[in-house]
Amino acid sequence: MLRKSPLLFRRTMSSLIHNPKTEQYTLAALNEKDVAKRPELQFEKWFKEAQEQNIVVPEALNLATAELPSGRVSNRTVLMKELDTNGNVVIYSNWGTSRKAADFKTNPYVSLTFWWKELQRQVRVEGKAHLLSKEESQPYFDERPKGSRIGAIASKQSQPIESREKLEETVAQVAKKYQDTEEIPCPEYWGGLAVEPDHWEFFQGRESRVHDRIVFDKQGSDWKVSRICP
Ligand SMILES: Cc1cc2nc3c(=O)[nH]c(=O)nc-3n(C[C@H](O)[C@H](O)[C@H](O)COP(=O)(O)O)c2cc1C
Repeated sequence: MLRKSPLLFRRTMSSLIHNPKTEQYTLAALNEKDVAKRPELQFEKWFKEAQEQNIVVPEALNLATAELPSGRVSNRTVLMKELDTNGNVVIYSNWGTSRKAADFKTNPYVSLTFWWKELQRQVRVEGKAHLLSKEESQPYFDERPKGSRIGAIASKQSQPIESREKLEETVAQVAKKYQDTEEIPCPEYWGGLAVEPDHWEFFQGRESRVHDRIVFDKQGSDWKVSRICP
């Protein structure tokens, strides 16, 4: 069999990655005078526009966590379930066994990124997070389809399991336990994480990559608004 040289392989890859005819961002602009007074209101406005544009899963975001003292960073996609009345971004997950749980136990600071391609927009959020109580998490847990609730109980998220069959067997055992009821208690380790933002960035793509980037930095109970370079 003919093997490609590493150089040839790199060339093939780079022609795929570095497409010279990259998309130009010309849809909109973002000016200091047009942004809302508070970042959560600006986020609400953009989020509604993302929904109106029928962007696929606009609530999908990338959550980055960092383990201390190693400083090692990991990230994954999760779904925003709520922007609460304090302007906190709430996500739900397993806080017992997952990688994000292990990271969060050592370091409460996280960052989030939304990307809405069709609007040529990115939103970045940074802040300290805290876990919601079982009582605060239960209402959302109850809204989830039964299968997802059972899955949350059966799955030791991010821990190794010997096979798909073993996983399905574990799920089936939990399903059997709750077969006659809709009332399933939210597991101790499962629930909401509220991210309390102290920094937001609203990025509107512009022509020739000279983008608009407006940032909000928390100062007491107020927000300082600035423009940063693309
Ligand atoms: C579109 C999408 C949405 C997801 N939403 C969630 C979510 O809301 N909560 C969650 O725990 N995992 C969610 N996941 C799975 C995570 O990406 C990840 O696999 C899981 O949380 C374990 O990550 P960890 O071990 O780094 O903590 C989602 C994955 C995708 C692709």
